[in-house]
Order: sequence, then C-alpha cells, then structure tokens
Amino acid sequence: MKVTIYGSGYVGLVTGACLAEVGNHVLCVDVDPDKIDRLNRGEVPIYEPGLEAMVTENTQAGRLAFTLDPAEGVRHGLFQFIAVGTPPDEDGSADLRHVLAVARTVAEHMDEYRIVVNKSTVPVGTADRVREAIRDILQGRGAQVDFDVVSNPEFLKEGAALDDFMKPDRVIVGTDNPRTGELMRALYAPFTRNHDRMLLMDIRSAELTKYAANAMLATKISFMNELANLAERLGADIEDVRQGIGSDPRIGYHFIYPGCGYGGSCFPKDVKALERTARQAGFEARLLTAVEEVNERQKERLFQKLHSHFGGDLKGRTIALWGLAFKPNTDDMREASSRRLMEALWAAGARVRAHDPVAMEECTHIYGHRDDLVLCDDHEQALEGADALVIVTEWNVFRSPDFERIRKALKQPVIFDGRNLYEPRHMEDMGFAYYAIGRGR
Ligand code: UGA
Repeated sequence: MKVTIYGSGYVGLVTGACLAEVGNHVLCVDVDPDKIDRLNRGEVPIYEPGLEAMVTENTQAGRLAFTLDPAEGVRHGLFQFIAVGTPPDEDGSADLRHVLAVARTVAEHMDEYRIVVNKSTVPVGTADRVREAIRDILQGRGAQVDFDVVSNPEFLKEGAALDDFMKPDRVIVGTDNPRTGELMRALYAPFTRNHDRMLLMDIRSAELTKYAANAMLATKISFMNELANLAERLGADIEDVRQGIGSDPRIGYHFIYPGCGYGGSCFPKDVKALERTARQAGFEARLLTAVEEVNERQKERLFQKLHSHFGGDLKGRTIALWGLAFKPNTDDMREASSRRLMEALWAAGARVRAHDPVAMEECTHIYGHRDDLVLCDDHEQALEGADALVIVTEWNVFRSPDFERIRKALKQPVIFDGRNLYEPRHMEDMGFAYYAIGRGR
C-alpha cells in the first residue's frame, strides 16, 4: 500500500520506517530542508534504538523516501498520516497550528479519495476541525473530492518505539466510515495478525483514549510519589509497599515506580491538555490537576534533600549528576527532572559535573557551554572532586557501580538516588549517607 507521512519527527519516522519494513511504499514529507537532506543521506536526527538501521535498509530497498514537496506527498499515498508536533501553547492546550496546516496542504493538492489519519496527539474534536479545514479548501477550489478523517493515536514509548509499533498491545482506530475502518485494518494487519488487536471505535472515543492512557499512567506515578513522600514521614519503605500492592493483579507491578517525577514530551503535556479540555467542556478535572501538582513538587525533591543535607547552603559545592535524559535509552531531555535539578543547583551557586550515556549533546544544545556545568565522558569521571552524587536517570550502567571508586572520588560519601537503584541497608553498611525516594530519609 502507499502511505504518506507528514512530519519526520519521532512519531512520523518510526511510523514510516515500520510501515515500510512490512512492504508498504512510504513517502515522508517535512518542511525542514536540513532534516530531509540528512534523512536522504541515511542520517536519523533522533536517537532511538534500531531506527537508523531500519530507515537505511528501507530507503535502500526503495520503500522509504523523504521529500519537501507536499504535492508529491498527496499524489503518493492513499493514507495521508499527520504526525507533526502539537506543542502546548501558553495556556497548556495543544497547539494545532501544524496539524491544521498539513490538513490544508493536503486539501490544496488532493484530486482523488484520500484517508487523512491523525497520529499526532490532538484534543478531542480535532478530527472535526481537520475535516472542516479540508472541506473549506476543497470548496474554495471548487473541487469535489471524497475523503475521510481517521483518528489513530500512537502509543509508542521512546526507547522501545520500534517494538511497540511492530508488536502493539492494541491499535486504536476512530472512524465513522466502516469501509475506511477495513482499509485501516488491512494496513495494520501485518502487526496485528496473530491476535486481532485492532479496536475500531468512533472518532472522539479514539481521540480521548490516547489522553486517557497517558493520564492513567501519569496518575499511577504521581500516586506512588505521593505515597513515597508519606512513607518517608511515617518511617515506612515505599519499595516494600510497591511490591506489596503490585502483587495484586488488579493493581499490577507496572508503572508504579516512585522517583523524582515523570518527564518527557508526553505525560506533562497531555495531562495539562486533558485538564484544559475538561475545563473547556465545563468540567473541573480535579484528579488531573492533582497529578500534575504532585509531579511538579516531586521534581523538587532531590534538590530539597541536597539542600537540607548541606545545611541550606550549596554555594560553591560541586554535585556529580548521573543521567540527564528524562528516562533511559533516549537522549530526550524534554521536561526532564535533571533540568529542574541543575537549574536549582545553579541558582543556589553550585556547580554540576554530569554524565549521560547519550544525552550530552542534547544537554549542550539546551544549555550551551557554561562555567558551572562540566559534561564528563564517563560516569566515574563525573565524580572527581564532587561533594555528592545525584542519580536522576536509571541507565543500566548505573545499577551496579564500583562503590569503592565512588567513595574515593567524592569528598563525602553521600548519594542522592532519584530512582531507588540501591538497597539502603547495603549503602549504610558501605558507609554511605544514602538518600532515596520514600525509603527512610
Ligand atoms: C509515554 C507512554 O508510556 C506511551 O505509551 C505513549 O505513547 C507516549 O508517552 C506518548 O504519548 O507518545 P514516554 O513519554 O516515551 O511514553 O515515556 P515513559 O516510558 O512512559 O516514561 C515517562 C516518564 O515516567 C519517565 O520520566 C519515567 O522515568 C517516568 N516513570 C515511569 C516513573 O517515574 N515511574 C514509573 O513507574 C514509570
């Protein structure tokens, strides 16, 4: 089948590569000439395990191509996927400017039936706006062309996106046309063949499903962070509590890890956007507001612990920081807890020596070169001469470090662990002052 994808960012590229991988002919359209150039040379501008190889292989096989020309894109695909960004605007709602611009572009060039598929995370009701935008342009052109708008939200996790696409838990398709539903089923058949994992529903329900999933996951995390803070005050250990509740299959072990707050490009933005959608619908979504507030507070926890350990004065201190990305296996630092922490440390007059296995370039991109930030080639180097170690991202390489070296390299044996990687008792036995989340202090 022929597929066109607008937006060669994270979602667009993964979708394009995976659809090409199973034999479709995919054309990716983007407005950024530099990006299209790089992609045509086989360079993938984002870090996602396996993606560059898949893009290269499919490009060489002639199933995947990149262009700046939207007219070519509209001619190419029966399926026209919109996978452009929807950054939050000042009031927290998703900015649909790019989505609607793509819709209008498609309408300007469309002269036969097309299925416009919304893959970007967009508020409930967006499919209607996309349909109107297309209709307006067609009317203006005096063109009589049939089309459908479908909602097909993505559920990719950064770092595991190829697997999530190739072996989805479910594929959600919202459409009001059963025939379009069948075409979407055919497109996704290679990924859902062994079990029918496609759920067809009306468009608004599909749009809401995306937000519901992310808001539920964010709620689980904030709930656990709330309890972790309480456990600290009560002298309980949240890690025992986590296992104690996770064993109940109605609760489950997944996504109940307390930590220094959730980040990334999705949860913070989507929780805010859903809250805002609710408000616009005349409904106060109290739980969502709380989920968001708890997370904001959680991102301050590590700094608070450092601050009180050092008697309220961090001026002139050097802090070793392990992990910059918002989670392992990505270089993404959007809304990362590391940023809040570093900014608070700098404001308090401290210096940071940081290491992340892949996000260092991204960090330089965000903060440039500054005197109070040293990016170190490996995690042990980050420790040299530091007053304390803080762990923000649970990269595997941090899970079993050489504690003897840590102790020797630090001025004081103190570790602040935002991801609960170690056993407090062992740490105390080894002579560390060890601060975790929800475990004692
Ligand atoms: C999330 C969802 O998991 C995907 O299903 C969804 O498709 C995607 O958003 C999206 O909307 O595009 P992602 O943002 O890549 O994916 O990251 P997650 O793996 O969900 O992690 C989000 C944050 O939660 C991270 O900062 C992580 O450290 C934190 N987290 C996760 C916890 O603090 N505790 C947990 O138990 C799990």
